[in-house]
Amino acid sequence: SLPKHVKIVEVGPRDGLQNEKNLVPTQVKIDLINMLSETGLSVIEATSFVSAKWVPQMADHTEVMQNIRKVPGISYPVLTPNLKGFQAAVAAGAREVSIFGAASELFTKKNINCSIEESLERFRDVLSAAKEASIPVRGYVSCVLGCPYEGKIAPSKVAEVSKKMYAMGCYEISLGDTIGVGTPGDMKEMLSAVMKEVPVEALAVHCHDTYGQALANTLVALQMGVSVVDSSVAGLGGCPYAQGASGNVATEDMVYMLHGLGIHTGVELPKLLEAGTFICKTLNRRTNSKVAQALCKL
Ligand code: HMG
Ligand code: MG
Repeated sequence: SLPKHVKIVEVGPRDGLQNEKNLVPTQVKIDLINMLSETGLSVIEATSFVSAKWVPQMADHTEVMQNIRKVPGISYPVLTPNLKGFQAAVAAGAREVSIFGAASELFTKKNINCSIEESLERFRDVLSAAKEASIPVRGYVSCVLGCPYEGKIAPSKVAEVSKKMYAMGCYEISLGDTIGVGTPGDMKEMLSAVMKEVPVEALAVHCHDTYGQALANTLVALQMGVSVVDSSVAGLGGCPYAQGASGNVATEDMVYMLHGLGIHTGVELPKLLEAGTFICKTLNRRTNSKVAQALCKL
């Protein structure tokens, strides 16, 4: 059976924009986040405290964090790969962070320049500092349905890494189909393995739509009891260390599907469409949201 309420984690300002070739002006990022804050979303991932040499688009993280309007009741988590990023994030006013690991050794090396084991060590440091500062930590596991460098990933590997990150103290584990290659059967198999190690209430799915499978994969997760889903306004995005990976499933399409299923999200679709129109016009690109296309917003 399906959940009655689903929490949407909007990742557009981070996952969506991190892959843009041209630097997006800081004010545009701030305006986008402020518009998203008006839609009823309760979680808006704002930016990443990563190395500017690795991801130049996120170099303005401090200005973004300091200048967005932080609406009470909305969380604005940021990515922090290590203690250095955590400290900078907290200094900039972050009240929630996310660590990001992967179920693939090669992807971990390309993305954060270390092994899985080393990454877990770094995450432990972040988690103990976060605990002291009473800051909740979300954990991402990437490549859960496939890796751009290793190909197929065993569900048991995803379960193992998820279990470790949950045991460390992450309140939620977001399972990322980073390159959007998985199909619903893969999702079912992978989630069955992970649910043996992590309670389903603590799981989220993060589907990229490269092969057009993201909504179908998300629906399977909902049917299995997952009630937290990640998506990106206008379907912006992709990971800079996963070549060819396209954006996340569009939040507009996610909301349309969830509301059609009678599931409550708290999100107002018209306001979301406005935010999507704003960022697409500003970036001078076509929306990846089918719903936005259908409603002729662009
Ligand atoms: P490294 O080069 O191994 O790090 O990078 P290092 O510790 O050797 O330090 C090298 C330099 O980086 C030093 O500066 C450090 O101070 C600096 P230098 O002395 O050369 O001037 N540095 C930092 N600067 C700012 N913030 C920091 C930080 N840490 C060190 N936190 C590092 C390691 C992790 C920093 C690097 O690999 C990195 O920044 N990677 C980020 C990659 C990234 O952001 N990827 C995209 C997000 S993941 C994703 O999109 C997937 C997801 O959406 C889920 C899914 O779809 O599956 C989440
Ligand atoms: Mg992603």
